[in-house]
Amino acid sequence: MQKSTVDLSIQPNRRAFLKKGVAAGAVGVGIGFNLLGNSTTAFAEDQDNEFDRRHQRFTRGDAALLRFAAALESLETDFWVQYNELGGVQDSEVPGGTGNPTYTGKLANLDADFAQYIHDNTDDEITHFTFLNAYLESKGEAPVNLDKFRTLPGSKATGSSGQLRLTNLMKLTLDTSWWTRYRSDANNPDLDPNFVFPQAVPDLHKGQFTAIPRTDADMEPDAHIQAIANTAAFHMPTVEQGGSSLYPAMALRATSVEVLRILISIGPVETMHFQTWSDNAGNAVSDPLAPLTDPTNGLTFPNLNVSPGGEQFQTNLIMPEPCPFLSRKLPKCSIIRPTETRGAAMSVVQFLTAMGLFTGQSKEFFRLLRDLAEDADNARREND
Ligand SMILES: [Fe+2]
Ligand SMILES: [Fe+2]
Repeated sequence: MQKSTVDLSIQPNRRAFLKKGVAAGAVGVGIGFNLLGNSTTAFAEDQDNEFDRRHQRFTRGDAALLRFAAALESLETDFWVQYNELGGVQDSEVPGGTGNPTYTGKLANLDADFAQYIHDNTDDEITHFTFLNAYLESKGEAPVNLDKFRTLPGSKATGSSGQLRLTNLMKLTLDTSWWTRYRSDANNPDLDPNFVFPQAVPDLHKGQFTAIPRTDADMEPDAHIQAIANTAAFHMPTVEQGGSSLYPAMALRATSVEVLRILISIGPVETMHFQTWSDNAGNAVSDPLAPLTDPTNGLTFPNLNVSPGGEQFQTNLIMPEPCPFLSRKLPKCSIIRPTETRGAAMSVVQFLTAMGLFTGQSKEFFRLLRDLAEDADNARREND
């Protein structure tokens, strides 16, 4: 009989009972007893087979969930590689580019370990899409390959490899309301879908800003290239908080326990990224760097501890504030939010599109992304 580790971990009591039954038979206290033991075992085995059949079944919905995740991870990888070429650590693990010393220095003003964190985040994303595609193939499903959409020109500044890209980091409009969403103890987007959480950096939500130096002309004035680094520092958690919500939202639709395991094992890594980057973003909006205004376009990073100040904005409050969860009749709980599963994939596509991450991409690209999201949102948990 094939026993999976997933099965063992989920039904420990029944397994323990089954083991006892087998042991009783093996000791051989008597033929009659043995027969009884065997029939009990056979019954339990039937139940186990039924459990395996129901919970290991890989459905079309599971494939759609993983395919959408693989597409997003490819896109994440593409923009993280751009950050790594210019401001990370270029090595055999994450090759490409030669680094831009000025930009890297401005990122280091936010955190001395910034370059290493970029490298490691990039490495994580590479493994996410590579694993998801390999898993899909292992199940006889088509992997996701977006290479034909690698058409966008990237940075021409010192350090860039100059290769064509899937994503655009040079015209970003950032929704920084996650900052106050995770600090609110009164509102949860799942319970209050119309509540508007205030922006941390309102300017980033209005215009279009680059998060990487476009050419070497972006190296000065000093406040300009610092503002570009600050934009990156807010772009990173803005994406990673999306991943933190998407994975649990998709996990609610998984049928196979193994697919569930994949989704709930990758998702928290997105949250580890989010937590790290949200701490670093706080350094762009506090002493000594803030306030800072880019003299070329007026983009301002306020000192949030001073203006507006208070618990909604205080920069060292990076742990999630407990908030209402599922029902206001229940006590508040410290949680990832939102995790509502309906339409979760499509809302991520809309979020990233509105961000400008795909500016310049073809109609065919958007059509494919929407198709993948629609299939993921149509996935239904089939266990029950
Ligand atoms: Fe990822
Ligand atoms: Fe990520």
